[in-house]
Amino acid sequence: MTLYSRVRPLAFTLPAETAHDLGKRTLRAAQSTRPTRAALSYAYRYDDPALEVDLFDTTFPNPVGVAAGFDKNAEVTHALAALGFGFVEIGTVTPYPQSGNDRPRLFRLREDEAMVNRMGFNGQGMERVKSRLEADGTPSIPLGVNVGKMNSSDEREAIEDYRRVFDRLSPFADYVVVNVSCPNTPEEFDEGSPEHLRAIFETLEAENDRDVPILVKIGPDEPEESVFDLVDIVREFDLDGIVATNTSTSREGLDSPRQEEWGGLSGKPLEDRSTAVIRSLAEYTDGELPIIGVGGVDSAESAYAKIRAGASLVQLYTGFVYEGPSTAKRINRGLSALLERDGFSSVEDAVGADLE
Ligand SMILES: Cc1cc2nc3c(=O)[nH]c(=O)nc-3n(C[C@H](O)[C@H](O)[C@H](O)COP(=O)(O)O)c2cc1C
Repeated sequence: MTLYSRVRPLAFTLPAETAHDLGKRTLRAAQSTRPTRAALSYAYRYDDPALEVDLFDTTFPNPVGVAAGFDKNAEVTHALAALGFGFVEIGTVTPYPQSGNDRPRLFRLREDEAMVNRMGFNGQGMERVKSRLEADGTPSIPLGVNVGKMNSSDEREAIEDYRRVFDRLSPFADYVVVNVSCPNTPEEFDEGSPEHLRAIFETLEAENDRDVPILVKIGPDEPEESVFDLVDIVREFDLDGIVATNTSTSREGLDSPRQEEWGGLSGKPLEDRSTAVIRSLAEYTDGELPIIGVGGVDSAESAYAKIRAGASLVQLYTGFVYEGPSTAKRINRGLSALLERDGFSSVEDAVGADLE
């Protein structure tokens, strides 16, 4: 029995967002001194050269990252590195601070190993995030920056929002993600329309002197044709990859009474859906466009399924909440064993192994 499996029932008596804030405060305290950071690393890191992934001109020590939303304001990147994650994606970061939707806005669906959130892009804004990254330094693992628009922005202002956050934070980033797939922010216009996407990418391209890799994050609920249309635009602008997927508005097959809450569904029920999106993306692009797979990863097997479907890297949020601090270590150790069992010498060899 792990320590977390004893603490979890207690943490789960608290409202989900309160428990999350408490968890983050603990991680922030743990990363604040060198000895506590080293102790975390010693307890939780798992190193194996077979797990390393070379992508976006950098080396990921392992393919298991923390998804956007967990560390929106870059407060605990060093603790997440010490817990053995292979990369962390901060954000969604908006140009100005934003309070998001009213609480409660985060719910556990325990029977389904899932969560529903309607946070609504709450965050401290790009200037605070920038100062923090300057003060704390970037983590020892690759850093993704997920950029978004203000809830109040119209179509034209939205483009300027993406440009400003990109301009401010891309110098710290190993990759940047344009998030146009949040199901719980107000939408006054069609964020996914080809015209809007083209305008965003054109603007970022003009801004991108340092050639920072740019990816787009997509949702799991779009029909396949519109996903392929988006991929065509991604290729047109020579972007660097896709993050698949964000949370879902579907409630199919759930048991928990909390499914009534509106917002984006994450966790186990999303697993197969997001893996299917990864597979169809990888097939459509002949495995040539890097994919970061996210949705319901909580074990080596679930990470491995996404890798074999075509993901070069995976991320998780909900699995971390349910499984606790040893999540990355457990998944990475299991991945090493699965690679060896199947005769792959590295993660990179297993990417897309299930494709025709
Ligand atoms: C509370 C919460 C907040 C999130 N916030 C963001 C966000 O700000 N930006 C984003 O791109 N995704 C956000 N996500 C989505 C996650 O990054 C991820 O795509 C989704 O949760 C599926 O992964 P999971 O099943 O491992 O949680 C959030 C998810 C949760 C649960």
